[in-house]
Amino acid sequence: MSHADEQAGTRRDFLYYATAGAGAIAAGAAIWPLANQMNPSADVQALSSIFVDISGVEPGMQLTVKYLGKPVFIRRRTQDEIDAGRAVELSALMDQGSENPNKPATDASDVNRTMDEAGEWLVMVGVCTHLGCVPIGDGSGEFGGWFCPCHGSHYDTAGRIRKGPAPKNLIIPVAEFTDESTLKLG
Ligand code: FES
Repeated sequence: MSHADEQAGTRRDFLYYATAGAGAIAAGAAIWPLANQMNPSADVQALSSIFVDISGVEPGMQLTVKYLGKPVFIRRRTQDEIDAGRAVELSALMDQGSENPNKPATDASDVNRTMDEAGEWLVMVGVCTHLGCVPIGDGSGEFGGWFCPCHGSHYDTAGRIRKGPAPKNLIIPVAEFTDESTLKLG
C-alpha cells in the first residue's frame, strides 16, 4: 500500500458521529411542535428519522452514523467495487434472499442492494449478523468489503456474507434521498 493510499484510508476511516448527532437533534427540534399536535404514530415516525449530509462523500469514502443506537454505513462505492459486486453470481452467495426495504427487490443481487441504479450508494446497518460486532470496512476481508474480526466473517463490496459464521448479509435500513445531498434514515 502506498503512502497516498494510507492517507486516503485514514480519511475514509473518519467517523462522522457528530454530523449525525447534530442532524438528529435538529430534526427533532424542528418537527416536535408540529408532530406534537398530530397522532402518536406520526410523532414517533418523525422523531425516529435523521437526515445525513452526504455532499462531501467522494467515491471510496464511507460515513458511519449512529441511528437508533446502531452504526449505519453509508458508502459511496468506487467503480471497481461496483464491478466486483455485480460480477458475483447469485448462486455464489451464502445468503441469496435478503430484502431491500427501499426497492421491490427479493434477492441479494448487487443491483438490488444499492440506493441508486448506478450502484454507487450502499447503505447498511453496520452490525455483523453473527453476534453483533461492528465490521471493519474500506476493502477489508477476502472479498474487498467488510471484515468482522470477532469470529472471522467476510462481507463483499455489497455487504453480502461470503465466508465465516455470519448467517445473513448486512441489513439494509429504510432510507431515501430527499435531495442530491441529503439521505434520510428512517
Ligand atoms: S460477531 Fe461478526 S463474526 Fe462473530
